[in-house]
Amino acid sequence: MTKCVLGIDLGTSAVKVSAVDRTGNIIAQESFDYPLSQPQSGYSEQNPNDWVMSTTVAIVRLILDDHIDPNDIAGVSYSGQMHGLVLLDQDYHVLRPAILWNDTRTTAEREEIERIMGDEFVRITGNRPLEGFTLPKLLWVKKHEPELWQQTAVFLTPKDYVRYRMTGQLGIDYSDATGTTLLDIHTNEWSTEICDRLGIPENILPPLLHSDDQTGTITAEYAEFSGLSQATKVFAGGADNACGALGAGILRPEVVLSSIGTSGVILKYEDQPTDAYHGQVQMEDHVVNDAYYSMGVTLAAGYSLSWFKKTFGSDVTFDQMVAGAAESGIGAKGLLFTPYIVGERTPYADANVRGSFIGVDATQNRGDFTRAVIEGVTFSFRDLLEIYRQAGAQFQQVVAIGGGAKNPLWLQIQADVFNVPVQKLANEQGPGLGAAMIAAVGLGWYPDYQACSDQFVHVDKVYQPIPANVERYNQIYQLYHEVYPQTKSLTHALQALK
Ligand code: XUL
Repeated sequence: MTKCVLGIDLGTSAVKVSAVDRTGNIIAQESFDYPLSQPQSGYSEQNPNDWVMSTTVAIVRLILDDHIDPNDIAGVSYSGQMHGLVLLDQDYHVLRPAILWNDTRTTAEREEIERIMGDEFVRITGNRPLEGFTLPKLLWVKKHEPELWQQTAVFLTPKDYVRYRMTGQLGIDYSDATGTTLLDIHTNEWSTEICDRLGIPENILPPLLHSDDQTGTITAEYAEFSGLSQATKVFAGGADNACGALGAGILRPEVVLSSIGTSGVILKYEDQPTDAYHGQVQMEDHVVNDAYYSMGVTLAAGYSLSWFKKTFGSDVTFDQMVAGAAESGIGAKGLLFTPYIVGERTPYADANVRGSFIGVDATQNRGDFTRAVIEGVTFSFRDLLEIYRQAGAQFQQVVAIGGGAKNPLWLQIQADVFNVPVQKLANEQGPGLGAAMIAAVGLGWYPDYQACSDQFVHVDKVYQPIPANVERYNQIYQLYHEVYPQTKSLTHALQALK
């Protein structure tokens, strides 16, 4: 009888549920996809019930197909896609499709927040208002869907809704609460000033929780639906980037995370919220109590490559396509790609810019284009690292997780473009492992996250920068950095003519 915890990783394209034993071994894993709907350009929505159904299918498969005994599942916790808005009425029924982190319909609301609150907003929340955050989405619904707004009793972020359906208890953990930009990051209380000045009733804000707070157990109804035991303890969980950082052992400032999911982030652990980066990067509560992290976000990281594959590579496998990139060389035979295909968050905060391929040449083939996409995403991460370097931040290692860590070519490109050693983890599981670690610490299996990380997280290999490659990439990066200022107005004008 092996006791285990479940880490539920609620992503943008799928949910992945991992059963992890006391020593950090993954005993079984199941995932299930759900659709993303883009009813208009810039819109990105999901049906919250799809998250619950898919999570349940994954859990049922763990029990029936992988033979995990429900009585052995001691605890459950969550990692969730950040910022998404789920609106519930007084019976806690979902009022409309969830508006996701990568939805950019809220430029007018972002500008309204800037106009009304100016720098005070950055001072309180640690963040500039950006389209992706939850607050501008609330203001959008208030303005455009007043009848739904009237019916709103409470809002949640995505993983909190799934937890509510499993436990019947409402709540949001601090790492997702900072991502709403309604929390005062210095006091860790909902900001009355922001609510008052922007007209958000405080009674629609959910109760605040620490990530490892127990939020009840599985309800009788959900136990019957999923096969889980009612005795299983449920812990609040956290934002996917915070859980990804925890699952990669990012528990001190000298090690930086490079994470490539649908979006991509460069993330740095912070002991205190700091304004050293002048609001250029996001500042969030960590899932570790009394700790913080800052991060810059590339909106289309893995998504750039999956978009490219879907559009131009449907006749080959993913591995075949990436093998073509390996046959190309540094600089993709003179081709540069900027990954602004859904607008960009950091460093430009520009929802209307669009990506480009620059330097298209008749001798290039699909392998060169794939290489350019991989390099372009990595250059966008270099832009983020430069923000930290300019602020004098020290870091000696980058830990890579997600899509960019699955492929030796991309790991070496990261080491060469960043000019920093890049660690690949053994058996890397991303945010789902962080979620499992929250349950393990919540259950008291470990006294703290460092002790849990020492047991769960191991480095497999370190990719060292190769000096000759570093030099070439430095030159190409200088050109990459010019593409945004030189194409911004062109791509804005093209967007307006669509
Ligand atoms: C972070 C962000 C994304 C999502 C992806 O601010 O918007 O990285 O968390 O799920």
